[in-house]
Amino acid sequence: MIVNNKTTTGFEYIEIQNKSATAKVALQGGHLFHYQQLDKAPLLWLSEKSLFEAGKAIRGGIPLCWPWFGRHPTDASLPQHGFARTSAFEFIDSNEPDENTTELVLRLESSDKTLTLWPYQFEILLHITIDTELNVELTTINCDTQAFVISSALHSYFAVSSIDDVSVQGLEQKDYWNALTGETKTEKGIIRIKEEIDRIYQKIVDPILLLDRDRTIQISSEGSASAVVWNPWIEKSKKMAYMQDEAYKNMLCIETANALNDSRKLIPGEEHTLKVTLSESG
Ligand code: BG6
Repeated sequence: MIVNNKTTTGFEYIEIQNKSATAKVALQGGHLFHYQQLDKAPLLWLSEKSLFEAGKAIRGGIPLCWPWFGRHPTDASLPQHGFARTSAFEFIDSNEPDENTTELVLRLESSDKTLTLWPYQFEILLHITIDTELNVELTTINCDTQAFVISSALHSYFAVSSIDDVSVQGLEQKDYWNALTGETKTEKGIIRIKEEIDRIYQKIVDPILLLDRDRTIQISSEGSASAVVWNPWIEKSKKMAYMQDEAYKNMLCIETANALNDSRKLIPGEEHTLKVTLSESG
């Protein structure tokens, strides 16, 4: 079942329910902000302080960072993480191939507004599949006469029982850029979060595992060789927009990215797909 819905603030979203899971996808940003298998806890964290206001990014779920990840490389006045997450997507197609599966397609195209922020003609297509796994695919098509470079991320905020009890596996021996210090280092072992963390790992090939008390989430990506691990911890949570002071205890971002050396150059007519499949066990 697919229902077009609105929050009390008039913010439009698509609500999905099938035999496997429920999900909610906002038209602003093509932002999936809820996914839950029927017999399980929500997979994604959503801030209780998210106000669902037009033009403001939702804090939680899976924001799309595009066409640049983090700060704009040359102009700090441009929005952090690009403009896709605050742009109005069109809902262009849906399909329910069986009672367990729902597929959605949303689209964002360049417009006079986007051209003032980023001077290229583009189309992005977002395919979301709601099943016993969650699949998110972001395809960028270069519709311009010039080549362009994109950095991007499917910025997944995972819900965790307690940050003290989680660990991240699959990034051992990977080089990472530490956004807090500007240093590049190599990850020694399994990651446990004991302080603020903001790192971009490089040359990733295998799935990443988020081990929590009662479940393990597997993050499998395609078209991506970089991943961001981020938790704002105590002081930054207090300063961040739409975030409760204690929120850092129940979330961890592991983002499927094309960042740093993994940014992608697309020539006219070329396309690139960044994809993540999220599954849980336990
Ligand atoms: C992460 C970045 O991806 O997003 C962090 O690595 C950043 O540096 C975080 O703080 C949240 O960004 P924003 O723009 O949603 O507050």
